[in-house]
Amino acid sequence: MTVDTALSQALAAVDLRLTFGQTPALRGASLELGRGEVLALMGPSGSGKSTLLHCLAGILRPDSGSVRVLGDPIEALTESRRSELRLSRMGFILQNGDLIPELTLAENVALPLQLLGTAHREAFARAEEMLASVGLGHAGNRRTGEVSGGEAQRAAVARALVHAPSIVFADEPTGALDTLAGEQVLELLLSASRQHGASVLLVTHDHRIAAHADRVVVLRDGALESTS
Ligand SMILES: Nc1ncnc2c1ncn2[C@@H]1O[C@H](COP(=O)(O)OP(=O)(O)OP(=O)(O)O)[C@@H](O)[C@H]1O
Ligand SMILES: [Mg+2]
Repeated sequence: MTVDTALSQALAAVDLRLTFGQTPALRGASLELGRGEVLALMGPSGSGKSTLLHCLAGILRPDSGSVRVLGDPIEALTESRRSELRLSRMGFILQNGDLIPELTLAENVALPLQLLGTAHREAFARAEEMLASVGLGHAGNRRTGEVSGGEAQRAAVARALVHAPSIVFADEPTGALDTLAGEQVLELLLSASRQHGASVLLVTHDHRIAAHADRVVVLRDGALESTS
């Protein structure tokens, strides 16, 4: 790989293998995500999509293979540097949201900024701005447990992007929503990501959702099958 190629990539994984006990979850998965690219990762249940996402984010260590994040090999980093990289350069949106129910939407969205050391007032001002940009300008004081599934996922989009990450990992972000709410969340995710220049890895079962991506790859039995 040339230096130029490495710099143009947000993520590059080569030949990842990972076995849980007797279950081979990844069997030589290789994948690249360009800077600013939206890549849909599809594949049957159990094919290894979430496992691959966790390896790319440095949450799981593969048994073998390499992962470069923004040009740097992640396997060379200590656990605390990986956490720092996740916090500062990555955003996450999961299927059922993982907002903290006891906190208000604004507190949830401000959290990444506060963990990064942003002052309270500025963190909340930016959280309110992000919430307004996903149509929740009125709802910052509501607790996560008191809003609809679609509203919670829109707040999750705000939280994933509030610190302008380079890479957004979305694992079935619309899986728990009906078609209309799912499309709205997806549109917000993609427009906000494009505005911030973030790359997006979008795991989905849904071809209609995948159709919004720049490129689609399919994982089957732990390896990438095809590229379109
Ligand atoms: N922590 C774990 N311990 C043991 N086996 C696991 C673990 N995580 C995943 N697996 C197994 O690894 C395989 C891949 O799982 P993974 O969650 O990556 O699939 P997936 O493609 O995300 O599926 P889904 O579409 O249902 O979310 C499955 O056979 C699963 O049972
Ligand atoms: Mg999964």
